[in-house]
Amino acid sequence: MKMITAVIQPTRLPDVKKALFEAEVWKMTVSNVIGCGQQAGYTESYRGNIIEVNLLKKVQLEIAVNDDFVERTVNAIIKGARTGSIGDGKIFVQDLPDCIRIRTGENGVEAIG
Ligand SMILES: Nc1ncnc2c1ncn2[C@@H]1O[C@H](COP(=O)(O)OP(=O)(O)OP(=O)(O)O)[C@@H](O)[C@H]1O
Ligand SMILES: [Mg+2]
Repeated sequence: MKMITAVIQPTRLPDVKKALFEAEVWKMTVSNVIGCGQQAGYTESYRGNIIEVNLLKKVQLEIAVNDDFVERTVNAIIKGARTGSIGDGKIFVQDLPDCIRIRTGENGVEAIG
């Protein structure tokens, strides 16, 4: 099992959701977040003050999948989110040791799918 976390431009969310739906990925958690990538990660001195790192509004998706769904999920996010411009976003794939469906007590691959 993997946890796929994607940080995307908020304007791309409808297209990402559509691409995920077409890939038969429906379960997700979506959050409004702020963040910065490689362009904004610096500080500048302006009139004697240090200007803070610029945090931009982003949308974060968290999708837990079984191993055979990783590739199609990542591809769907890219399909919906890529414009070719800086700031298109990032996808992080992490190992997920377990998942428990609270209602039934099922765990592992049964609980995710
Ligand atoms: N290394 C990182 N760790 C945590 N979050 C990150 C990291 N890189 C990017 N992010 C998150 O992803 C968002 C989008 O990143 P972004 O697409 O700007 O990445 P980038 O590395 O700057 O690539 P690009 O050059 O295409 O802009 C950031 O605002 C931040 O929330
Ligand atoms: Mg960037």
